[in-house]
Amino acid sequence: MSSTTREVILGVGAGIAAYKSCDLLRRLQERGYGVTVVPTPTSLNFVGAATWQALSGRPVTTQVWENTHEVSHISLAERADFFLIAPATADLIARIAAGRADDLLTNLVLASDVPMLIVPAMHPSMWNDPATVANVATLRKRGYTVMEPEVGRLTGTDSGQGRFPETSTIIAALDEISGNKRDLVGKRILITGGGTREAIDPVRFIGNRSSGKQALAIARNALLRGATVDLIAANMDSSSLNGAHVTSVESAAEMRAALAISFPLCDVLIMCAAVADAKPVRSAIEKIKKSLFTSIELEPNPDLLAELGKSKTHQIMIGFAAETSELRESARAKLLAKGLDVIYVNDVSGGAIFGKDTTQGMILTRTGADIALKEVSKDALANLLLDHANRQLG
Ligand code: C5P
Repeated sequence: MSSTTREVILGVGAGIAAYKSCDLLRRLQERGYGVTVVPTPTSLNFVGAATWQALSGRPVTTQVWENTHEVSHISLAERADFFLIAPATADLIARIAAGRADDLLTNLVLASDVPMLIVPAMHPSMWNDPATVANVATLRKRGYTVMEPEVGRLTGTDSGQGRFPETSTIIAALDEISGNKRDLVGKRILITGGGTREAIDPVRFIGNRSSGKQALAIARNALLRGATVDLIAANMDSSSLNGAHVTSVESAAEMRAALAISFPLCDVLIMCAAVADAKPVRSAIEKIKKSLFTSIELEPNPDLLAELGKSKTHQIMIGFAAETSELRESARAKLLAKGLDVIYVNDVSGGAIFGKDTTQGMILTRTGADIALKEVSKDALANLLLDHANRQLG
């Protein structure tokens, strides 16, 4: 299982509905899923490997013996959090029911025990054939979720039960089996992440150790929960994030300008970025010579969060802090001074947390009890903070 993105294997069977799975793939990516497409060899008659490769940005393989240097079927199976087979033909359903392993996809199905969503699409006479009915019953008995095809017009002139469901219906079914909450639909969440850089000259800057991983975890989980996400990214890699509107900034001044545009529109601000407390009074246009580089005169940066706290209209505001001692006292003081609803204080004693996938610290709110967290994933903290924000939004 991946620690950063929820990984889906999108299995594609040889049905005309395969072309509709191109859109399905896009929508999954937008919702923050990492998607590896595994088509059956015959499905390439409908949509070719090049299309899947271009859309997924990942290698596409149909047989166990292809590209073994890049992906083994066992490691692919181990990486997956969910399987989505769409479209599933009568033949593919029969092969899975029989436990066959005659292509990469059916190998993966055997090698994996993660939740499986199968989306059949075929002619009604094939769907209603006793062989298919029995195979579907076998798969359901095995714990796989097999969706009911929709009733309506088919590829030809006839109609009946066999149509591939709408993308949104498939995604809703996947959300159900993946335990994905959709409680932030219609909410706009603004997140800042990474660390600002304050230029000393064209080469040097004052920066900090913030990796942006916590902000990415919040953005990804907010997307999965249906929110519209704006990320103001300061010197962090957000290339794994699909579906957010990302504004890249370098300095506190640039972040301030980006916040001025996005803050009035958001419902929730999660200020996760490490904003430099001070910046050089002057940023030299030319590189400062080594012999003259002996001191830097600093002036304070504006406190962006405190400024926004004064101008807020309806927004829920969540701040972050990093402390090495007296966590609770200093966090409570910041909560009040910056006009926040919630603050999370990272316990960074001993250089912990920066660049890691886990965090430890304390959540403080204005009214509720303090919540101490000991070594939780940044995804788990993201969801706790989103729960708080959602509760306060009412
Ligand atoms: O005061 P301190 O830097 O510990 O507060 C941290 C919180 O304030 C974070 O949410 C950070 O993004 C924000 N902050 C800010 N502008 C600054 C410094 C910090 O918005 N100049």
